[in-house]
Amino acid sequence: MRYRGRAAPAASPLPPGYVLRTALPGDREAWIGLLNANAELGRWNEARLGRETAGAIDGAVLFVVHGDDLVATAGVYDREIRGRAVWEIGWVARHPAHREIGLGMHSTAAALAAARALPKRPVVLLTDDRRVSAISGYLAMGFEPDIKGHRSYARRWAAVRARIASRGPAR
Ligand SMILES: CC(C)(COP(=O)(O)OP(=O)(O)OC[C@H]1O[C@@H](n2cnc3c(N)ncnc32)[C@H](O)[C@@H]1OP(=O)(O)O)[C@@H](O)C(=O)NCCC(=O)NCCS
Repeated sequence: MRYRGRAAPAASPLPPGYVLRTALPGDREAWIGLLNANAELGRWNEARLGRETAGAIDGAVLFVVHGDDLVATAGVYDREIRGRAVWEIGWVARHPAHREIGLGMHSTAAALAAARALPKRPVVLLTDDRRVSAISGYLAMGFEPDIKGHRSYARRWAAVRARIASRGPAR
């Protein structure tokens, strides 16, 4: 998906007790813990975190924290897609004990704002057909499907949109 809007949308306010902050050097273990607790992005350890988060932009990996706990995250990554340098919004996740208050999308909106503050490049994110909750949030935020990237995309996006429409309003 690609963000084509002008200004990044304002993130909805966080509920009391939750704070957004940038990643700190000592966060890695808790970051791995959050990604494992999420359980929908596979198993994580230090080696995988190192590989998958190479290219993370300093100051643009965000966490929502609750007390000492990391409870949601998204970040901006320096990547190349089809030969073009992009800012990728990646590794969006929230802890299952803190669901239904929009923390994952709050982190995503903050990462999007951070990407827009960097030198101009396309701002993109990669997702999977089955991630209907995430995709509804991305669409609501103004990300648009890339239907030209592969000949299967138009058909698959039509199916995703039909699945989203059949669920009714998100909230
Ligand atoms: C995508 C993701 C990060 C979104 O996190 P989030 O913004 O915190 O989402 P919430 O927990 O607030 O929302 C969950 C549901 O509660 C609903 N909801 C949100 N706020 C609500 C509220 N105040 N009252 C009632 N329901 C609410 C949302 O509509 C959503 O419904 P859905 O799952 O049927 O779409 C999270 O679902 C996740 O971690 N998914 C697994 C990992 C993943 O797919 N990452 C994206 C990879 S591209």
